[in-house]
Amino acid sequence: KISDYIFKYKNFNFALGRTTPEHIDSLESFEVKDSDAFLVTYPKSGTIWTQQIIISIYEQDGHPNECSTNIERMPWLEYETAEYTLLSSPRLFSSHLPEYLMPPAVKEKKSKVVYVMRNPKDNIVSYYHFTKGHKNTETPKSFEQFFEWYMTGRVTASSWFDHIRGWYSGRDQYNILILTYEDMIMDLKGVVKKLCSFLGKNLTEAAIDQVVEKSKFDTMKNNPKANYQHFPPEWFNGKFLRKGQIGDWKNTLTVAQSERVDRVFQEKLEQPLQLFRVL
Ligand code: PPS
Repeated sequence: KISDYIFKYKNFNFALGRTTPEHIDSLESFEVKDSDAFLVTYPKSGTIWTQQIIISIYEQDGHPNECSTNIERMPWLEYETAEYTLLSSPRLFSSHLPEYLMPPAVKEKKSKVVYVMRNPKDNIVSYYHFTKGHKNTETPKSFEQFFEWYMTGRVTASSWFDHIRGWYSGRDQYNILILTYEDMIMDLKGVVKKLCSFLGKNLTEAAIDQVVEKSKFDTMKNNPKANYQHFPPEWFNGKFLRKGQIGDWKNTLTVAQSERVDRVFQEKLEQPLQLFRVL
């Protein structure tokens, strides 16, 4: 049953057992520091990739990552595992929160938000494989079944369409940089440079190249700090770095499913799907 894995709070689906309504409520008074940076995504949109890029940029700027894994250096805001008090400044956070649940103080625009989004069709496929490997989610019987769950928001983090719509329409309230997974695939160095300039880090060309090198799929796959293979197989038996491609959805979605994504996208976002360049 879905209720064995997910609890809905404030109209958003959270992973059961990893956070509580009290913790989510406490974020309303979360004290933000000017130097904080928040990475926000819908799941499976390039979160751990962007974490590695941001952490590497800070490293090149004189803030070494002394944590044993990236998840500790850049903990999830909405999960109680986050030991905020232990984090030294500059603090870096990750989050899958919808715009309306972000700590209100972030809107004062001193701290920074990086929002990464990914073509929903590739996102669905990635999320499907993740869900199959995850022991704390309901196992879909088929891709078709998972597709239904995704389209109706019956998954952790609810509807992709609502997540994008909320952040896209609320973007003016934040000091925000919006990136796409597709841009990262097509021009990683360009995205690293954009991030440096947004985060106020003036790196040399050689330092930028190092960030790019550390953030490549194969480099990350072999880096235990960055590859998320530290999760015990009883909890997650799969790969966070699975394929790392764009357009691969064509091997999974039917024409009818693809057209349904297009239709819902148009209805909910009033923006063409071309926003994501590669279809
Ligand atoms: S999570 O669970 O929300 O944190 O997952 P997330 O990190 O957002 O998404 C996982 C997908 O991102 C791909 N990934 C990368 N692609 C290209 N290059 C690099 N360096 C990289 N790192 C992670 C990862 O492979 C997942 O996508 P799929 O399509 O499943 O391969």
